[in-house]
Amino acid sequence: MSKESMLKLVQAAILAPSADNMQPWKFRVTDDSLELTLDRNLMGHFFDPADVATKIGCGALVENIDQYAQYLGLAMAVDRSSSGQQDVVARMTFTPVVRNDPGNFSSELFLRCTNRELYDRRQKIGRQARADLDVSVNSSDGFSLTFYDLPVQRKMLINTLYKADTIRFSHEVVHKDFYDVLRFGDSAGKTMDGLAQATLGIEFFFIPILRYLRSWRLTNILNKVVGLHHLMALRGIWLPMVSSAGLVSIVHSGSADYLEFGRVMERFWLQATRSGLSVQPLGAFPLFLARLNLLDGEGFSSEQVSRLRQLEQAFEDITPAYQVAERQLVMLFRLGYSGRAPGRSMRRPVDSFIE
Ligand SMILES: Cc1cc2nc3c(=O)[nH]c(=O)nc-3n(C[C@H](O)[C@H](O)[C@H](O)COP(=O)(O)O)c2cc1C
Repeated sequence: MSKESMLKLVQAAILAPSADNMQPWKFRVTDDSLELTLDRNLMGHFFDPADVATKIGCGALVENIDQYAQYLGLAMAVDRSSSGQQDVVARMTFTPVVRNDPGNFSSELFLRCTNRELYDRRQKIGRQARADLDVSVNSSDGFSLTFYDLPVQRKMLINTLYKADTIRFSHEVVHKDFYDVLRFGDSAGKTMDGLAQATLGIEFFFIPILRYLRSWRLTNILNKVVGLHHLMALRGIWLPMVSSAGLVSIVHSGSADYLEFGRVMERFWLQATRSGLSVQPLGAFPLFLARLNLLDGEGFSSEQVSRLRQLEQAFEDITPAYQVAERQLVMLFRLGYSGRAPGRSMRRPVDSFIE
């Protein structure tokens, strides 16, 4: 295969979502394969317990490669075990096919993005769009998509995530991680990663406030004195969720394969993009649960652990596919239609990913 085709595949790959847009990946390119490896300097945040968030991002990236390979008339095979080299997540090889798949998402992967604006709740998600989203998830073994349609379910989910978000804003390590990835002004143009101010979807007057709150000492005092963490969670998650036409979860039953999870998540997101829907993952609660269940809640106080256990129980009550005892992986999203185009997040140049 030509080097040019390989680079096209890498170009499509790096458009994948990654937690906090840290793009923690590298590629080794050979004549017939692409090896995906990890850049550990860009990992290890609190919201990446046992590399779960990284692996989900890797899954999305592999899915992008598969979609674009189909467009180039290539069939992709993924080998996740045989390379035996340290930190190789997957080795992908390609063979020409006679007929390419007309149903692939080769154009949507250039359009997919995270939209953190408020959506127009009155504009409902049509029946066909919902059915297509269902197929994008439910057609993969062990995965299920749940729409929280009943007002009572919706209210309970919003409440659950709101409460989880108050923990997020009162946790020192999460606070530090957040400021590590926030890119104020034009600093995202320099690092070409992280969460650029323009992509946050918040009112302009919040930016100086956010800048000011960089000090954990100040934030912690305001949390205690005026309940700042409640206000942050109200604007950060409650309002965006209330503004959304659809709230959904993807749950995997049985022992979780995070890379496969990421592939399914990306197909769901690409399908939503094709249907003209805006999407924002709501990763804090699912990744808190991953830390709770995979690392025995390491890094949380005992009070936070018991609150999260209660929230997990409440989540199980409204999500038939989710069983607390099975310690399943879950991802949540809000969906809807938004009048405003979100600022696009940056990507580092393709060459910088090649080892
Ligand atoms: C595992 C995972 C969790 C994420 N969690 C959140 C989240 O909680 N809130 C959010 O706004 N975006 C979340 N994102 C989206 C990323 O921030 C986003 O993909 C990244 O900034 C790149 O932007 P893009 O999706 O527009 O390309 C998550 C992405 C991944 C892969």
